Amino acid sequence: MKKVRLTINGMPKQFVVGTDRVLLDLLRDDLRLTGTKQSCDRKGQCGACTVIVNGKAVHSCLTKVINLDGAEVITVEGLGTPDNPHLIQEAFVLAGAVQCGYCTPGMIMATKALLDKNPDPDNGEIKQALAHNLCRCTGYVKIIDAVKLAGRFLRGEATPDKVRPDFKDGTLGVSHPRPTAMLKACGLAEFAADIQFQDALEVAVVRSTEHHAVIKSIDTKAAETMPGVIGVMTAKDIKGTNRLKMIFPDQPILCENKVRTLGDPILVVAAETKAQAQAAAAAVTIAYDPLPVMMTPAEAMAEGAVQIHAEFPNVCFRQPQVKGDAEKALAQSAFMVEAEFQTQMNHQAPTEPEACVAYLEGEGEDAQLVVIGRSIDIHTHKAMLQEALGWKNVRYEEAFAGGQFGIKAAITSEGIAAAAALHFRRPIRYIPSLAESMLLTSKRHPFSMKVKLGADKDGRLTAYANDFIVNSGAYETLGIVVITRALQMLSGSYHIPNIKAMGQLVYTNNAAGSVARGAGPPQVAFALESAMDMLAEKMGIDPLEFRRMTSLKPGESVSTGAVIDQWPFEGLCDAIRPHYDRAKKEATAFRDGPVKRGVGIACTAFGIAQPGDKATVDVELDPDDAITIYAAAADPGEGTDSMLTQITAHLMDLPMEKVHLVTRNSDQTTGTGPAAASRITYMVGGALVNALEQMKAAMTEAGVTNYKGLKKAGKPTRYTGKKNVTAGQLDPKTGQGPTFESQVHNIQMAEVEVNTETGEARVIKMTSAVDSGPVINPKNLEGQLEGGMDQGVGYALREEYIHGRTKDWVTFKFPTMKTAFDMEVIIRETPRLKGTLGSTGIGEMTMVSTAPAVTNAIKDACGARIYDLPATPDKIKAALAKGE
Ligand code: FES
Ligand code: FES
Repeated sequence: MKKVRLTINGMPKQFVVGTDRVLLDLLRDDLRLTGTKQSCDRKGQCGACTVIVNGKAVHSCLTKVINLDGAEVITVEGLGTPDNPHLIQEAFVLAGAVQCGYCTPGMIMATKALLDKNPDPDNGEIKQALAHNLCRCTGYVKIIDAVKLAGRFLRGEATPDKVRPDFKDGTLGVSHPRPTAMLKACGLAEFAADIQFQDALEVAVVRSTEHHAVIKSIDTKAAETMPGVIGVMTAKDIKGTNRLKMIFPDQPILCENKVRTLGDPILVVAAETKAQAQAAAAAVTIAYDPLPVMMTPAEAMAEGAVQIHAEFPNVCFRQPQVKGDAEKALAQSAFMVEAEFQTQMNHQAPTEPEACVAYLEGEGEDAQLVVIGRSIDIHTHKAMLQEALGWKNVRYEEAFAGGQFGIKAAITSEGIAAAAALHFRRPIRYIPSLAESMLLTSKRHPFSMKVKLGADKDGRLTAYANDFIVNSGAYETLGIVVITRALQMLSGSYHIPNIKAMGQLVYTNNAAGSVARGAGPPQVAFALESAMDMLAEKMGIDPLEFRRMTSLKPGESVSTGAVIDQWPFEGLCDAIRPHYDRAKKEATAFRDGPVKRGVGIACTAFGIAQPGDKATVDVELDPDDAITIYAAAADPGEGTDSMLTQITAHLMDLPMEKVHLVTRNSDQTTGTGPAAASRITYMVGGALVNALEQMKAAMTEAGVTNYKGLKKAGKPTRYTGKKNVTAGQLDPKTGQGPTFESQVHNIQMAEVEVNTETGEARVIKMTSAVDSGPVINPKNLEGQLEGGMDQGVGYALREEYIHGRTKDWVTFKFPTMKTAFDMEVIIRETPRLKGTLGSTGIGEMTMVSTAPAVTNAIKDACGARIYDLPATPDKIKAALAKGE
């Protein structure tokens, strides 16, 4: 041990530490400076832990305290507070660079170290300085903007007051900073792992080392006597169903007698410290009887394959779709293309690991079990936990969330933390590593698709067939929803009179698949949009013109047979045309030499508001004439808080600070459904408008304008608003039925360079033309599009999750500042007939069309058609060698 003297945020401190103590733990655990975050497993990969030591940005996870005697340390908390922020914090908030905010403190500290030395960095210098700071939400565009804005502030060329939008600028269509952005920029927003409890236990989970096996025996004797260990918990200790039931009751909190995939949870060890819990977990011995391992649908569908779940066949869901007579139409088509496409398993990759904490409030059997995590559907997840644990009195609180992108439509760590809190009767912190988080969360499903697409001699689409098989992994989770959504949006932006499709969901021993940004449409759009280009080429028609001329029109029907009444897609084709022509012209300069440039496009008509969707929102006029909104509308970084606040301020003519949000506590809110499927603006925003209209009508009727007046008139001050979409289901035999109430339309254009010698593809620029209705907050909208494009390019070129092999951000190939590219957004604002003040939602659609735009651009550049994502250099080289 050694005494070390440090100055931390200007305060002199001394510590006695051993050789292993790292600065990250000292800051977070000893000093409770939790603004400094951890994303990777202390491998120097994420930069979330960046602080400044003696003027230099360092990874605090790799910095030994024992070497810091006399050092000056600055953390994000040392820069400023929400009342008195540092100019860099102001710049990040005003530039719209803060979405989930998990990366933000590290980004801000890296920025400070850069600007202290170089007050006016160019893009290259910014990318270099922030190269080791990861962000999953922003696509890095607005972070670079923020660094530049901070430079201007610090150089005295601008002030925050000059840049900050004012109430008099209006509330809708104005980029007012997000209500929680400054809290995040100051490191004060509490994420689950930041929450401490008196007397908390830390837990570690013993997970299966087998892909498929019967559990023969569990030996915990050695573990139970180890230092600090309080006890162990198995499935037998869980009093409820022990099933986290989304649709099928197939996923246990802890496995009973069988494991179905690598990393399945078997047992929990609780101890006084995390290190003790982990050491004891490593001492548990489990004996298995191995079963045949089936990682692919082909193996699980083979004759005589072992059934993975006794209660459900391996092919656990089938949904056909039949519109018209596709076989006949394809046979009669003047042109037809046929191909097989494959997409990879992918990780949603939120930067925050799967942390969850839980405790009991009160005593005995009446105690309330409080679970704090980053669910995007706290009421549904509360109900799942009640059933799984056999404990009725449950409250779910949504902590700040380090992104989610679909991963938190399902819950996992919540089951462990909550069951342990009940069993051990002590507060529980379950803070898994990134590697463990990767094992325990559900992933984007891989799809295998056989498609045929036909057109007549005039270039009109005649028919489309898509026979697709979805690798569900060990659990169904939300696979049925993914297949249903893929079929609902199967025909994309186009009028296709004849459809024949079949979606099959197959259990395997791979990681469980589930929803991930886009949830089904990204996979089928890769096939359709590739086939569209193949067909256009065969017919000799320009791909953009082909899409414009085959656009669906009001009065025509989508793949489910439902007739649509509004389809503002052709305007986007016109809007992107000059950009497309410019890009094609520029690409011709790359005809000679090994590096070729190509331009690709792909489109989306992304459905908003599923048949049967519902949302409820309460609003209350407070005694000070502020309005409080009560609705469980999660905001893991998309900007829900802004949308609710800006709509309310607009409709009630209030300053934004007079709008308060209560959204994160299941006891205080109405259920609004998940913050998924790009539905929150349309559904929850719609219910909010309905509630506010009732309040306004009551005020008008009473001839009053404030709380006092309403009270005096004997009118309620609280109103419940609803938005309900007519219910209906796809016919199980034909896949015909209702469709979404509205769509958001999008065309993506990719400009890509391919090195034909190395096979390497590099995105130069993505352009996104979008019509989602009137824009509520331009910077938030751009942020969603930019983040989606960055994720989409990762999906197209690099990212793949391989169960058991992808363990960190390097093996995942997380997008960085170095892989970032230029982006441009083109906005059209056609008001939607049933939209929220005309608006829809934009969280997902760039994720749908980016990958096929990129692979179409690769084909345009060098002739290599990619059928199998991601488009790695090896696959591009192989396609070039085959002359495809
Ligand atoms: S936690 Fe330090 S770099 Fe990731
Ligand atoms: S804002 Fe960067 S990870 Fe979410």
